[in-house]
Amino acid sequence: MCGGGFAPPKRCQIFPGLCPAAWGAAPITLGVVTEGHRPSDIRRHCHGVAGPIPSLVQQQAKTKIGILISGRGSNMLALAGAVDEGRIPGAEIALVVSDYANAAGLDLARERGLKIVAIEREGRSREEHDRAIVTALKDHGVEIVCLAGYMRLLSCVFIEAYRNRILNIHPSLLPAFPGLDAQRQALKQGVKWTGCTVHLVDESLDGGPIIAQKIVPVLEDDTEETLSARILEQEHKLYAEALTLVVSGNYEIAGRRVLRKQ
Ligand code: GRF
Repeated sequence: MCGGGFAPPKRCQIFPGLCPAAWGAAPITLGVVTEGHRPSDIRRHCHGVAGPIPSLVQQQAKTKIGILISGRGSNMLALAGAVDEGRIPGAEIALVVSDYANAAGLDLARERGLKIVAIEREGRSREEHDRAIVTALKDHGVEIVCLAGYMRLLSCVFIEAYRNRILNIHPSLLPAFPGLDAQRQALKQGVKWTGCTVHLVDESLDGGPIIAQKIVPVLEDDTEETLSARILEQEHKLYAEALTLVVSGNYEIAGRRVLRKQ
């Protein structure tokens, strides 16, 4: 059975020399840092002891991101580019996982110098397969998982392990056109506007709380290919923006709504 609730609070380590309170001590655990606490909160904590510590922000451990792919991996590359360009502050990509050893995106990730692993299904049940992936992610310290063209539904095993910390990107304005071939569905339905959505993953199909969306017009002469290409362009921007918010912790989940904190 899958339970609800929020992900457990993260523990944050700072090291001697970075926090005056810890000078001379072995690496310490500062305490439980809940979602929403960023380096600035920790700086405030230390500031009260012996003044500001400019180097702490740079030295703060980064949030480790795991990316799951099944195919070409263009969203994975867009996220990697955004991280490299500093557009997702405080994030690092710790691992790229594919459920297909021959996924084109896996080669692209390797060429980019990212850590990769292929974990194929190999006759395992969905739960067994997910358990193997979760183990790899945990082994690499992954805290947030981004599904980027990952073509398998996640089991409760996976969702429980990363509750409210799994993001997915979908090429429609959810809740319209969930599932496969969203762009084809949009053309068939005759909508004038479609787009893309980044949402948190829960047990439903493409139905978790929506983090961010971008709209794309459907043009009179659009084919599935031309529409998909224009949506993909927006996906690449949207995913980085949504992940930036989640990494910042500057949001709260209220029912089905993801709200930015003021
Ligand atoms: C994207 O359109 C994404 O929205 C959907 O699958 C596609 C993956 O493309 N979930 P890519 O592998 O990221 O290029």
